[in-house]
Amino acid sequence: MKKTSRRSGPVRLAIIGTGGMARQHAIKFKEVKGCTLVAAVDVSRERAETFAQTHGIPEIYGSVDELLAAGTVDAVAIVTPDAFHAEVAIQCLKAGKHVLCEKPLAVNYPDAQRMVKAAAKAGVINMVNFSYRDMPSLQAVAKLVHSGKLGEIRHVEASYLQSWLASKVWGDWRTDPKWLWRLSSQHGSKGVLGDVGVHILDFATFPAGPLKSVYCKLKTFDKAPGNRIGEYLLDANDSAVMTVEFANGALGTIHTTRWMGGHANRLYLKIAGTLGSVVIDGDWGTNVYRTSLGSNLDKAKWREHKAPRTPNNYARFIRGIRTGKQEEPTFARGAEVQRVLDACYVSDGKNAPVKLPAAKAKAH
Ligand SMILES: NC(=O)c1ccc[n+]([C@@H]2O[C@H](COP(=O)([O-])OP(=O)(O)OC[C@H]3O[C@@H](n4cnc5c(N)ncnc54)[C@H](O)[C@@H]3O)[C@@H](O)[C@H]2O)c1
Repeated sequence: MKKTSRRSGPVRLAIIGTGGMARQHAIKFKEVKGCTLVAAVDVSRERAETFAQTHGIPEIYGSVDELLAAGTVDAVAIVTPDAFHAEVAIQCLKAGKHVLCEKPLAVNYPDAQRMVKAAAKAGVINMVNFSYRDMPSLQAVAKLVHSGKLGEIRHVEASYLQSWLASKVWGDWRTDPKWLWRLSSQHGSKGVLGDVGVHILDFATFPAGPLKSVYCKLKTFDKAPGNRIGEYLLDANDSAVMTVEFANGALGTIHTTRWMGGHANRLYLKIAGTLGSVVIDGDWGTNVYRTSLGSNLDKAKWREHKAPRTPNNYARFIRGIRTGKQEEPTFARGAEVQRVLDACYVSDGKNAPVKLPAAKAKAH
């Protein structure tokens, strides 16, 4: 692996893919000192133009080839649909660009591994945008668990609950293509598991450690006559339930659904060890967590904590480029989570648990 060099001047950045999520990238990168948004790239040049105008970005390109030929950026944020992450990332890595790639890192583990190898060869900063790493509560809880203060980990309960199929909390999914494509494998969806299961797997295993095995059940409920609305066959999974064993021996359940009325977008994590427990409930806010430790443990009482502010992934990416020090979550981490996702589909197909090989290196 090449050594990553540090950059002293402002980091010149391109956003590749200027659809829905790109807006978040533009807003967040603008808040980061030492970063200049230089280019907007999209296969729809018109969309890139509108995006560039909205966010005051000077250069516009209709392809990654054009961007790389111009040679005006040091780094890229890849915000294309999942299916293009591997191809675009590898092209940019070969050109020596630092890469922040949206989640999921790829559409399968072999592609994710190719990306990890290309990043190592290029010797650049590489990160995957597991957005909930931006929650100060998750960072504080990971530190607490890694410090050993919970003792040996015995049990983990994690869930990511959404309600947009049971409600109109985010509008009417029956009439909006933005939701309909997410229900259809022909339109590139891997269901709730691929969409947000990737987040809850990272959310649980970042503090609690890697998984040894997973037993996953996926379910797709009938939602329309013939399970079809217009061009959309509604065949992608709506709910996923995983029974897992961690490498440290703990057992756990990890589940996600789009049918949980009352929760627009809630991540929940409880980790119990031999010396106490910790819990995060996203509905409490991004910096709140509770512990049952010390004298509270014998009374089954909880203490609330406010986690200190932590840099988000966008800030960490720029910091990594400026210091030459790789930040987390890395491509290797993205690939590790991808391997679990792949195992979930195999497990559901076989109706049996699937073993996961031990993670090769530390990949937070
Ligand atoms: N981190 C998060 O919480 C989060 C949230 C939402 C979406 N995402 C991820 O962000 C990515 C984009 O999602 P979205 O909802 O913005 O999708 P989108 O469909 O709204 O936008 C994608 C854009 O990429 C463009 N595009 C497609 N192929 C391209 C290519 N080869 N080169 C350049 N541009 C290309 C499309 O024209 C489109 O404008 C997905 O991977 C998604 O999983 C992450």
